Amino acid sequence: MKAIAIQQKPGGVQLVWTDAPDPVCGAEDVLLAVKATAVNRADLLQARGLYPPPPGDSDILGLEAAGEIIAVGEKVTAWGLGDRVCALTPGGGYAARAAIPQEWLIPLPANWSYAEGAAVPEVWLTADTNLFQEGGLTRGETVLIHAGASGVGTAAIQLACEMGARTAVTAGSTAKRDVCRGLGATISVDYRSENFREAILEQTNRNGVDLVLDCIGGPYLEDHIRLLRPYGRLINIGLLGGASGALDMAAVLMKSLTLKGTRMRARSRKAKGRATQQFRDRFWPLLVAGKLRPIIDRIVPITEADAAHALVKANRNIGKVILEVAPD
Ligand SMILES: NC(=O)c1ccc[n+]([C@@H]2O[C@H](COP(=O)([O-])OP(=O)(O)OC[C@H]3O[C@@H](n4cnc5c(N)ncnc54)[C@H](OP(=O)(O)O)[C@@H]3O)[C@@H](O)[C@H]2O)c1
Repeated sequence: MKAIAIQQKPGGVQLVWTDAPDPVCGAEDVLLAVKATAVNRADLLQARGLYPPPPGDSDILGLEAAGEIIAVGEKVTAWGLGDRVCALTPGGGYAARAAIPQEWLIPLPANWSYAEGAAVPEVWLTADTNLFQEGGLTRGETVLIHAGASGVGTAAIQLACEMGARTAVTAGSTAKRDVCRGLGATISVDYRSENFREAILEQTNRNGVDLVLDCIGGPYLEDHIRLLRPYGRLINIGLLGGASGALDMAAVLMKSLTLKGTRMRARSRKAKGRATQQFRDRFWPLLVAGKLRPIIDRIVPITEADAAHALVKANRNIGKVILEVAPD
């Protein structure tokens, strides 16, 4: 089959669509003819050798895919040839074919494109698990979501609003803030021109927030601890700003705060299956009905994966950048 290979070039790496061995479909897996996949920040790091796949996962890039089932393992009964699905992948999404655990699959409705399907698994499951299972967000609470116009951010805003939470976001441009407000964010701060902590305190009657969905990390740690209300939760999912920061343990203790880091990729097969099922039960019907929607920045051929990575690295996307895969 064809797949993206990471090749060294002077001063960096190059993503090249080239021949690769076919994936092995296990007894409880399906083999997907991949029609679309999507860029995630983890792919950018992995391409640079900074985020190797967990042992046993494919070393081909790509954490999600949408496509058609072309083979099933001997123990698979719930899925059949020709089924249109999207799913997290154990790596290997940037390829013509991918082997995927059956319990990770999400059925695509007939009126959904593969590009729309590929925009869902990684960021919607990340938003769902971290807002609700890890972050315990409940109706009436306030959540701060950084990178509001990112793939994760656009999903998280919609999920939080759907569950009756008040949503504050940061974003780096007027266009991005507009999109966030359009999705339901009530407070939006341009962190480049304003102090986000002060802006949010001001707009919450100095009450702060109950939950922070944090993809920035160290440099914001002090601000987050100050912003969190008693029994607040800080859920870290990324380190876009860096790893180290100052932690006021007295505030953690006195406000009974919870600090947690989570990674979708590090979850076990079973845990990802559970997360998928919860999402399918609770929120997937709302996406299918059009009440919630994946936000797609653009769709490009997978042969242009290099340019797609450059765009995401430069923070120019609003929502997901989709890579379309032509038939092998
Ligand atoms: N832990 C997990 O399981 C998991 C899973 C998926 C994603 N993630 C993480 O979630 C985050 C969002 O992922 P994504 O794929 O949705 O991202 P994305 O669509 O690529 O958007 C990321 C956005 O973050 C903002 N940003 C970048 N550097 C920043 C900085 N130093 N300070 C503040 N904002 C910054 C930029 O928007 P502005 O123009 O607004 O600055 C950028 O467009 C990433 O950190 C990713 O690694 C974690």
